[in-house]
Amino acid sequence: MQRYFQAQIEARRAEPREDLLSLLVPEEIGGSAALSMQEAVCNAMDLLAAGHETTTALLASGIDLLLAHPEVAEALRGDPSLIPGAIDEMLRCESPVRGFFRAVTADAEVAGVRIPKGARVYLLYASGNRDEAEFADGERFDIHRRDTGKHLAFGKGIHFCVGSLLARTEAKIALEELLERLPGLRRGKDPARRSPFILMRAFDSLPIAWDA
Ligand code: HEM
Repeated sequence: MQRYFQAQIEARRAEPREDLLSLLVPEEIGGSAALSMQEAVCNAMDLLAAGHETTTALLASGIDLLLAHPEVAEALRGDPSLIPGAIDEMLRCESPVRGFFRAVTADAEVAGVRIPKGARVYLLYASGNRDEAEFADGERFDIHRRDTGKHLAFGKGIHFCVGSLLARTEAKIALEELLERLPGLRRGKDPARRSPFILMRAFDSLPIAWDA
């Protein structure tokens, strides 16, 4: 993947396009980015993983929730203005990024648990998003919750997801189109398979069927 991106970035130097990779062409080879080639390649790889797998997982989990709650699918079909709120509830219930690792920089105490400086912790956004102290009946998928928007599915603080607006927009367009263009949306005959990846709540396969 590193070699692939290096070649793509070099090709943009020769022929810039209106795309993100053209903005990542390093100054040292004649581009405009104050980055080394190594940094440009790492940024491209980061953006691909951060932007693609996450949104794919959200779409699959969202569809899985709609298949489990056909009355919600019907409500969204009848009133597409409910879709943005439903997407936030999907993000809360099935957070695509389960969590991320952090290095603790100072001795801390959280809910009575001492965490020493230097410890490595796995910060579970997905768990916080079902915390009963924050969300009443947190296990329940309910698109009419008023406080869904405070979920942590895009993180919090200085690392808050830079692509959240793009992800929400992609999911909105995708759900609007899927609900309109796939009548009789239902599960396929093969069982769904969850991905075993610890960082992500995702599917390896989610077979669906619809009426042609
Ligand atoms: C449903 C889709 C998405 C989810 C659930 C998601 C989730 C997250 C989370 C939880 C973080 C915080 C990581 C941390 O705490 O260290 C994050 C950061 C980030 N996301 Fe997303 N993301 C999504 C879509 C996207 C898209 C579409 C892009 C870009 C095309 C993107 C780019 C990034 C980048 C670059 C960061 C790092 C920000 C920083 O560290 O300052 N994400 N995302």
